[in-house]
Formats: sequence, C-alpha cells, structure tokens
Amino acid sequence: MLKVEGINVYYGNIHALKDVSLEVNSDEIVALIGANGAGKSTTLKTISGLMRSKTGSITLMGEDISRTDAHKLVSKGLAHVPEGRRIFLQMTVQENLEMGAYTQPAYLKQGIKDVFERFPRLKHRKNQIAGTLSGGEQQMLAIGRALMSRPKLLMLDEPSMGLAPILVQQIFDIIKELHDTGTTILLVEQNAEMALRIADRAYVLESGRITVSGTGRELAQSDSIKKAYLGG
Ligand SMILES: Nc1ncnc2c1ncn2[C@@H]1O[C@H](COP(=O)(O)OP(=O)(O)OP(=O)(O)O)[C@@H](O)[C@H]1O
Ligand SMILES: [Mg+2]
Repeated sequence: MLKVEGINVYYGNIHALKDVSLEVNSDEIVALIGANGAGKSTTLKTISGLMRSKTGSITLMGEDISRTDAHKLVSKGLAHVPEGRRIFLQMTVQENLEMGAYTQPAYLKQGIKDVFERFPRLKHRKNQIAGTLSGGEQQMLAIGRALMSRPKLLMLDEPSMGLAPILVQQIFDIIKELHDTGTTILLVEQNAEMALRIADRAYVLESGRITVSGTGRELAQSDSIKKAYLGG
C-alpha cells in the first residue's frame, strides 16, 4: 500500500531523515518507534506531503506521491492524525467532523453516523465546543475527523500521548478495531510496549535512521529493544 524508499529530509541544515525506507502492506498495522527527536513525526509529515524529501520516492497504492500536495492525498485515501491532535478548538464536535468530510461530501451523513457509533462519547457531546473536551475525547475526535475522509491508510502520530492508562487502552482498542474493519495503519508511538503488542511489523528510528525492523513480536523480545524502549 505504501512504499517509502531512501528519503532524506532537512530542516535548514538539520538532516532529520537519513535514507529512510519503509513499507506498509495492505491490512497491516505497522509501528514506528523511537526516542524524542528521532524523526518519527517528520516521517509522517513527509509521507502526507507537508515536508519534501530531497531524494528517493514515496509510493501510495502504486502511484508516486512524493510531489503530490497534501490536500490531494486525502482524496487518494491517506489520512494523518498529527501529533497534538490539532482539532478545531473553537468549533463543535459535529462541525469538526463535517470539516473532515470535505473530500467525501456524499459520505457526510453516513460518516457522522459511523463515527458516533464508534465513539458514543462524541455523540453525547456533538454540540460541545471541541476545546472543552477532555484530552481523550479530543483524541477520539481527531481520529473520528480523519475517518470522515474514509482513509485506506491511516497514520496516527502518538495517539496515546498524555492520556491516562485506561484511555490509552481504549485508544489502542480503537486502533485494533479500525484495523479489523479494513483500515491499514501506520502508528507512531512513544509507548513502544503497547505499539509492539498490536503491530504486525515495526521499525525503529534512531537519529533519523531506521536501525531495526521486524515483526512486532520479534522487536518486543529483542534485548536491545527491551533495554532502550521497554524499560529494561
Ligand atoms: N520545524 C523544525 N525546524 C527545525 N528542526 C526541526 C523542526 N521540526 C523537527 N525538527 C528537528 O528534526 C528532528 C526530528 O524531529 P521529529 O519531530 O520528527 O521527531 P519525533 O521522533 O517525532 O520526536 P518526538 O517523539 O519528540 O515527537 C529533531 O531533531 C527536531 O529537533
Ligand atoms: Mg513527534
């Protein structure tokens, strides 16, 4: 579904991604883990067209998208839930969801119904201003808004960040459910333990380079990964 080959991305003279290559096959959950500043968010931003690579290529469902505008990628089936949620804080829950459907106007009514079915907490709060939602509810809204574009590939940047353990579990359950209902997922997480548990495959980024890859299980059992990312 997604193939990233040899990308190099810079912020001025900071070389943020160094020859990064990765693949996400249809129906997989692929996790990208790594320390703060490793380049995880930059990887997602480059895939979704917000940053440009100097080299290499990015292919989505067989089409080279390395020069495609971000907004066009949404209609091609790519959705990106950025770090820190970035919902429209002044708008209501319902309005946020409507904004998410701009590439799929015909799906608007059904989409909202589907999102409310998946997230009953949002349904009860549909007229609430998004900025007054709790952190977990805001994350649900950010995911719900992304689902309004009917993505084939959903990229999530640290969806569990800042959430209490019970909500972290809920968010991971939702990711699993989305996967089970046919959405392919690229998941960036600091919570390596939870991410490796649900991932089919995973990559480790260190200072802008992919250093390790394997199945979620292989990585969870690797001594060096345990030491560096799983608290011993
Ligand atoms: N807008 C920017 N301008 C300059 N440097 C940046 C910018 N954004 C990111 N960087 C640098 O690029 C590198 C990779 O950052 P990135 O945000 O991709 O890391 P990350 O793995 O997502 O980290 P975190 O876990 O903290 O979110 C870091 O060294 C960071 O300081
Ligand atoms: Mg990040």
